[in-house]
Amino acid sequence: MAVQGKHEFVAGQGLTTTKAPYIENAVANGEMYIEQPYELYSPENHDAWQRLYARMQDRWARYANQKFLDGLATLCFEATHVPRLEDVNKFMVPRTGFRARAVSGFVPAFQFFDCLSRREFPTTITIRDGSSLDYLPEPDIFHDIAGHVPMHTDPAFADTLVRFGKCAHTAAELVSGVKDEAEKLRRLSSMQNALQRFFWFTIEFGLMRGDKPGEHKAYGSGLMSSYGEIVHCLESPDVQRHPIQMEWVVNQHFEIDHYQPLLFVVNDFEHLFELLGQLERWMKEGKLNNVTPGWRDMSDADVRSFLEASLNK
Ligand SMILES: [Fe+2]
Repeated sequence: MAVQGKHEFVAGQGLTTTKAPYIENAVANGEMYIEQPYELYSPENHDAWQRLYARMQDRWARYANQKFLDGLATLCFEATHVPRLEDVNKFMVPRTGFRARAVSGFVPAFQFFDCLSRREFPTTITIRDGSSLDYLPEPDIFHDIAGHVPMHTDPAFADTLVRFGKCAHTAAELVSGVKDEAEKLRRLSSMQNALQRFFWFTIEFGLMRGDKPGEHKAYGSGLMSSYGEIVHCLESPDVQRHPIQMEWVVNQHFEIDHYQPLLFVVNDFEHLFELLGQLERWMKEGKLNNVTPGWRDMSDADVRSFLEASLNK
């Protein structure tokens, strides 16, 4: 048994989403970066991983892009146990320099993108409850590790994530000289909306052209970690799938609590990398200072993170 303050952490007590004393303690202490106390995972946690992982195998084989499948082969996840981040990193770091870094939960927007610029991926270590494998509003280790990380073994994809981080720094720099606080906040909010939307429609829910004419494959982590949506996104006639267009994506609202009705298709990860270059150019040219406001505007913590970054530029 490990004791921290008045908290007791018992081996096997569980690291279940929203029910983990270890995480509550870290959040209460303001700790964003944490360890992965592997001994705390319960048999039910490992069972949840095993079931999630097993049922995705056929769907990944059918719907995932080849880079994801190559990444899975590289990372050698254990089918029966929640992965140790140190093991994941052992296979990933030599490929692209990216490493998974455990966090206690919410990471303010600027810090999140800043981590990407340093080739660190903020990673949730809790796992969803075994009784609700299908829907989870918050990320968990299955989403972060099985959904995101296999693509991080691809150099063009990894470089794209770094470019997202650079774009956040560029946004902070661009407003650093703006004296009028209201105008500064307005521009920052607009650029962050654009960045967040672009991340959502690519890294979280992106589609890619397949090898055959008219074929699409999934690469977005929200698709790769969802047993239902990975089929829906490619098979359903209710989903609009369009070649990606920057001016559309940066102005497009999204909602997080249902399957996505609109998805965008990139040619490949080199194409995605080029698009991030375009996003940064548009930022510098002021083209992202007035994107459509959305209901998912920045939270107070997100705003503060960008404002603080701009003061340090
Ligand atoms: Fe994600």
